[in-house]
Amino acid sequence: MDAGTIATFDPSTDADSFRGALGTFVTGVTVITTDSPEGPVAIVANSFASVSLDPPLVLWSPAKSSKRFEHFAGSRRFAVHVLSSDQRDICAAIIKSKTAIKDVPTHLSHCGMPIVEGALATFECNLEATHDAGDHVIIVGRVTKAHHQGGDPLVFHAGQYRTLTKED
Ligand SMILES: Cc1cc2nc3c(=O)[nH]c(=O)nc-3n(C[C@H](O)[C@H](O)[C@H](O)COP(=O)(O)O)c2cc1C
Repeated sequence: MDAGTIATFDPSTDADSFRGALGTFVTGVTVITTDSPEGPVAIVANSFASVSLDPPLVLWSPAKSSKRFEHFAGSRRFAVHVLSSDQRDICAAIIKSKTAIKDVPTHLSHCGMPIVEGALATFECNLEATHDAGDHVIIVGRVTKAHHQGGDPLVFHAGQYRTLTKED
């Protein structure tokens, strides 16, 4: 939408406009992994948010309509990976297939979670709580171990991937 144009709408009857307005909020991109009876599975999510420092809590929300929903809603443990700008191919592969994580460079955490190599940050979580939230569920994780390394993030805005440019 052009700068200066204003749209006012009822989000309960105009989901496209609502999605567009929500898309103005710039986010990073995460890959969330867990183990399942089918082996390791993953989902791309930008609903990730920090919640609490003490205790260390984070959240994300899977859509109930996702074919992967049962894997994540039923999981007691998961790992959140904040993707770097050079991990777009991983993102694309995981959107196509929940089991594409098997072809991504990973190692197993001490509790068996697939950990994606090269992510900017990784949060290994135990399930703390779930909250029903419309067509999504909010999953709160207690972070049991975290990893952090330098680099530029993959950014998502208005339905497109972006990279950050630094100001002089
Ligand atoms: C940048 C981006 C962020 C996404 N964030 C979420 C999210 O937070 N929660 C969710 O359930 N799906 C999210 N999705 C959609 C999932 O990645 C979804 O798994 C994917 O579209 C494939 O559909 P399926 O899960 O039914 O196989 C996101 C997709 C993209 C591209």
